Formats: sequence, structure tokens, C-alpha cells
Amino acid sequence: MPRLVVLRIGHRFFRDSRVTTHVCLTARALGADGVIIADREDKTVEATIREVGKRFGGNFSVESGKPWRKTVRDWKDHGGKVVHLTAYGLKLPHVIQEIDEADKDMLVVVGSEKMPGEVFKLADWNVSVTNQPMSEVAALAVFLDWHLQHGAFDKAFPNGQVQIVPSSDRKNIQDLS
Ligand SMILES: C[S@@+](CC[C@H](N)C(=O)[O-])C[C@H]1O[C@@H](n2cnc3c(N)ncnc32)[C@H](O)[C@@H]1O
Repeated sequence: MPRLVVLRIGHRFFRDSRVTTHVCLTARALGADGVIIADREDKTVEATIREVGKRFGGNFSVESGKPWRKTVRDWKDHGGKVVHLTAYGLKLPHVIQEIDEADKDMLVVVGSEKMPGEVFKLADWNVSVTNQPMSEVAALAVFLDWHLQHGAFDKAFPNGQVQIVPSSDRKNIQDLS
């Protein structure tokens, strides 16, 4: 099974911590295998995401501080492909079939503020979720939902301490420990 990892570029410690946490939570919930926060260490975000994993299960990985260029080059050297989410890219519906058919490990790159121009050249696909500026969290969510064809609803999160029981009228959390 090919892996899918999200690379968050441009994270600014503290200022972006909340949005980067949301990038990680969204990636985890919608089926990605992990997130790499490039260039800057953020142990607080790492700890938050690990705690969510411990409580709700799954094998989601999170690391921070790895240089983005080296991460992309290493990924490609190991045969993986790179998708860069950007409002300037080709429309998602026009490229998703080609991306899925590649059947390779995928590094999905999202930015924060200004993205280095080099990313456009290093990516195998520059992909837009509409050609309007939006949130990286929203763009990532739409991309993952298309890529996994709504499969996130069926994803298993093993070895958690609790699980949410879907309910029409109340908050219902089942203790598994
Ligand atoms: C808030 S945007 C800022 C982009 C920045 N102004 C720039 O020109 O690079 C942050 C990130 O959201 C993602 N993003 C924003 N709009 C997008 C869209 N329509 N489609 C895909 N990704 C998008 C990109 O990964 C982008 O780097």
C-alpha cells in the first residue's frame, strides 16, 4: 500500500501553531500516514498530535525541523512522487486520475505564506483545489477526500484508548482500555 505523507512548508513557530495543528489533524483524520513540518521544530504541535494518536488510535507519524528541500529530494530519490497544492496549479479533477494511477508513495506539499518558487519545479504535479486562494487546511481536506474517494469514513484507527460512537443526539465516547 503506497504511503501518503503531508509536508508543511513555511511553518512559523507559535504564530502558525494552530493552523499547522489543524493541517496535522485533518491529514490524520482523512487518511494520511503522517506529517513532516519543514525547517522549524515545533515540539508543542508534535506532542499535541501524538496525544491525539494515543487517545484515538492509529499509526500517524509527526516530525518537525527537517529541511524542506532535502525532504523532497529524499522522497523522490526513494521513488516517491510529489503533489504541490497551490491555487496556481492544474485543476484537481483534471489530474487526480493520473495521480491515483501512479500508485506511488505521495508527498503532498502545503504552504503557509509565500511558497518558494522552486517547489513548483520539484513537484510532479502542481494541483489546484479551485483557482481561488483558500486555506491550506481546506485544500488538503478536499484533495485527500478525492484521492481516497471518501474512504476516510472506513479507515481503522487501531490501539486507541477511546473511540467516538456516532450519535444523532449526544456526545458518546466509548472507553476501550
Ligand atoms: C493561505 S495560502 C498562501 C499562499 C501564498 N499567498 C502564496 O502565494 O504562496 C497557503 C497554502 O494554501 C494552499 N492553497 C491555497 N489556496 C489553494 C488552492 N486554491 N488550491 C490548492 N491549494 C491552495 C497552498 O498550499 C498555499 O501554499
